[in-house]
Amino acid sequence: MKQKIEELNKEFDENVAKVDSAEGLENLRLEYMGKKGKVALLMQDFKNVKDEAKKEIGMLVNALKNKIETKISEFKEKITDKLNEKEEFNAKPIDFSLPVSDGVGSLHPRTIILKEVEDVFVSMGFNVEDGYEIETEYNNFDAVNVPANHPARDMQDTFWLDNGELLKTHTSAAQNRILRKYGPHCKVIFPGRCFRNESLDAGHENTFFQMEGIVVSENVSVSNLIYFMKEMLKGVFKKDIEVRLRPGFFPFTEPSFELDASCAFCGGKGCPSCGGSGWIELCPCGMIHPNVLRNAGIDPEKYTGFAFGLGADRLVMLKTGLNDIRHLNSGNVKLLKQFKTKI
Ligand code: DAH
Repeated sequence: MKQKIEELNKEFDENVAKVDSAEGLENLRLEYMGKKGKVALLMQDFKNVKDEAKKEIGMLVNALKNKIETKISEFKEKITDKLNEKEEFNAKPIDFSLPVSDGVGSLHPRTIILKEVEDVFVSMGFNVEDGYEIETEYNNFDAVNVPANHPARDMQDTFWLDNGELLKTHTSAAQNRILRKYGPHCKVIFPGRCFRNESLDAGHENTFFQMEGIVVSENVSVSNLIYFMKEMLKGVFKKDIEVRLRPGFFPFTEPSFELDASCAFCGGKGCPSCGGSGWIELCPCGMIHPNVLRNAGIDPEKYTGFAFGLGADRLVMLKTGLNDIRHLNSGNVKLLKQFKTKI
């Protein structure tokens, strides 16, 4: 009896694998589970099993019965789904040229803001470039003067790839390539996705956007940096916004600054958006370090430049009032769509 059950088990597995239609499945069901099916016959044999073996054999028969039932109902669902899909497809062929009836999709708030910022810079004569997401260690660190022992190169901060390359940790990684492309007269912004091996919270994401900008020429100074940042803010917030510089430290700039903008919501009086201070930390920036220019073949004795690294997601949060950076990568369409009209 045990052997019979085993054989039936195997045989069913083979047969069910061959089924490819609703009709075939129904035939299989009748063959095994019908009134005079193979399982019913097995039950008849079961009557003759000796009492002491009844428990063990009974369990085997039940297991087989359950398995057959489950498999058949699983297959039924699959086949019905497939048939329904086919029927739906045949019933109403899709006309891809028809306009969408129930509202249209919307751009991601980050896309909208980046475009706005880009438009302002383009109107001031900047070119827009793309960076790469996978970068060399040289471009991400060495070329922008980050020392070999800098903690940012650590596994804890950087996603390293097996081949020694990395996911770029900042848009500054494209500086060298862009400086080489444009040479000593360069006015470029380059937005891009960056990656850091961070623990996540409302203010930190492992994947985020920056918008980097560099201007190099003869006699470029800090006042040019301030001018362009103020113009950008005016374009984005549609009003004059004051800025202030605080000292900062970055290997790629000397001197380095933190640029704050006077709070666009309260005009500098102090409100929840600016934590009551009247100022919002907007972007790190500075005068490009001579080593960075030199690494790109530009003579720092003749040319100077400034650079800034705008936290694009931060700007999006400021403009939308979103209080958790993680929403931006959440793919939560319902949530993100709300900001379409607010921006
Ligand atoms: N790359 C820096 C970061 O991600 C940001 C930055 C600071 C960029 C100063 C710059 C700059 O261009 O001048 O933290």
